[in-house]
Amino acid sequence: MKYFDIAHMHASQVVLGVMRINEADKDPVRALETAFDGGINFFDNADIYGKGECETIFADALAKSSIKRDSIYIQTKVGIRPSIAFDFSKKHILEAVEGSMKRLKVDYLDALLLHRPDTLVEPEEVAEAFDALEQSGKVRTFGVSNQNPYQVELLKTAVRQPLLYNQLQFGVMHTGMVDQGILVNMNKPESVDLDGGALSYSRIHEMTIQAWSPFQYGFFDGPFVGNEKFPVLNAKLQELADKYGVTPSGIAIAWINRHPAKMQTIIGTINPSRIKEVTDASDVVLTREEWYAIYQAAGNLLP
Ligand SMILES: NC(=O)c1ccc[n+]([C@@H]2O[C@H](COP(=O)([O-])OP(=O)(O)OC[C@H]3O[C@@H](n4cnc5c(N)ncnc54)[C@H](OP(=O)(O)O)[C@@H]3O)[C@@H](O)[C@H]2O)c1
Repeated sequence: MKYFDIAHMHASQVVLGVMRINEADKDPVRALETAFDGGINFFDNADIYGKGECETIFADALAKSSIKRDSIYIQTKVGIRPSIAFDFSKKHILEAVEGSMKRLKVDYLDALLLHRPDTLVEPEEVAEAFDALEQSGKVRTFGVSNQNPYQVELLKTAVRQPLLYNQLQFGVMHTGMVDQGILVNMNKPESVDLDGGALSYSRIHEMTIQAWSPFQYGFFDGPFVGNEKFPVLNAKLQELADKYGVTPSGIAIAWINRHPAKMQTIIGTINPSRIKEVTDASDVVLTREEWYAIYQAAGNLLP
């Protein structure tokens, strides 16, 4: 497992996201312990996952597990309100963080992210909320999710804390962030810049991209690994899995981890054997040729 030094943290490259931890057939304690034993020390939550239930289940599982609070980093996200839409007001951010901390049973959060852009955002209000959360010791680092570089710049007109993370969908079957750079200035749909150059911006400004839903194709349409809709891709993943002595799921995550932008990859499986498949492959470093071969096997064209 690779680790990145981010502020006070020595954070694992692979993160366990717990959006699906409330699914009926899951064993949350085993999932957390398997992740931790495999080197994962960073966990991603959000106040809206399961309407708060996922944070509660995560906290209960952590308390029952052998993992100490101070040996891991806990991140959560706020700013989506199902009844309203998006809310980056000072009042909502502060109230939402209180709610999350109560459910998570923590007296500090390692990282807080604004979940999805609120077009009614007032950067000064976000700044006041972040100042209060930092000064009270409740939140140690800050970031955003699903935001483009100009939205980050807008926040930075008022926010004083470094914005250290941007959570964006990225994976073998969701490659927009790299397509636009590979096909720049060509007359192709994939040349369209969908995120304002978030990848280069993040590298220049040392923001960690946290790649979410790395196993999904489309927008939560299902996993592509082992999916008969993608025979060419799965054959390539299997070929490399055999070469490295890991599984196709492990190779799919190694593909993200190989990118030099130092991305964290947020896996969402709560199945201990799948978590282990990923952590067992976390030291695989794909060659440049293998990286581009997977990219093409996923149906992407090179110029
Ligand atoms: N910022 C945002 O807007 C945003 C949006 C979505 C998600 N996220 C974060 O990203 C995390 C991951 O999202 P995700 O759960 O959609 O990611 P994912 O890792 O792409 O998908 C995991 C899901 O795929 C299933 N699955 C089936 N076959 C699989 C295989 N061979 N390998 C791996 N998984 C397989 C898993 O089931 P089993 O559990 O049974 O293995 C699980 O239901 C979330 O928990 C959340 O923290 C953030």
